Amino acid sequence: MLKGKKILLGVTGSIAAYKIPFLVRLLVKEGAEVKVILTPAARDFVTPLTLSTLSGQPVFTDFFEKNDGTWHSHVELGNWADVYVIAPVSATTMGKMVNGIADNLLIATYLAAKCSVFFAPAMDLDMFKHPSTSDNIDKLNNFGNIIIEPEEGELASGLYGAGRMQEPEKIIDILIDFFKKKRTLKTNKSS
Ligand SMILES: Cc1cc2nc3c(=O)[nH]c(=O)nc-3n(C[C@H](O)[C@H](O)[C@H](O)COP(=O)(O)O)c2cc1C
Repeated sequence: MLKGKKILLGVTGSIAAYKIPFLVRLLVKEGAEVKVILTPAARDFVTPLTLSTLSGQPVFTDFFEKNDGTWHSHVELGNWADVYVIAPVSATTMGKMVNGIADNLLIATYLAAKCSVFFAPAMDLDMFKHPSTSDNIDKLNNFGNIIIEPEEGELASGLYGAGRMQEPEKIIDILIDFFKKKRTLKTNKSS
C-alpha cells in the first residue's frame, strides 16, 4: 500500500521512541523507502544501528561526519521525502519547530521540507496538558502540519491519560489513508 513512497522519519528523545523500530519494519513491509533522522537525544532511546538495519539505509543525526567532513544535506533530505513523519515528537522539538530553531538536522530538515509533515506528540500527561504544549500544537497545525493525535492510555511514568504516542499500526493506517486521498484528488483533477 505504500509501495515506492519515500518516508522520512524524524525521531526525538521520548521514551515512545522504542516503538520506532516496529514502525520502520511495518513501513518497509508496506513497500516504503525509509530514511531516519535522530536528534542527539533520540540516540539515547533507540540506536542508529537498529534503525539502519531495519530500514536498509544509513541513519542521520549530525549535519556532517566529524571524521571526513561528509555533509548530510537537510535540503536534499527534505526534497527527497514524499512525507516527513516526526514521531515521537517531544515538547522540546515542537517548541523548536514553532520557533524555527534549527540547531539539529531534524529541525533544519523540517524547515527545508516541501512535503507534508506529520507530527506525533508523545509525553507525560502534565507536559501534554501544559498551555505551552497546546499552544505549540495549535501553531504547528496552523502552519499546515498534520497532527497524529496521541491517545489516552498508560504512560511510561505510570500515570494514565493523554500523551501516549499512537501505535505504529495506526500511524501506518494514517499514512495509507493520506496517500489514498492524494491519489483520489489527483484522479478527480485530471478527469
Ligand atoms: C526517560 C526519559 C523519557 C523522556 N520522555 C519524554 C517524552 O516522552 N516526551 C518529551 O517531550 N520529553 C521526554 N523526555 C525529555 C526529552 O528527552 C528532553 O526534553 C530532550 O531535550 C528532547 O530533545 P529532542 O527533542 O531534541 O530530542 C524524556 C527524558 C527522559 C530521561
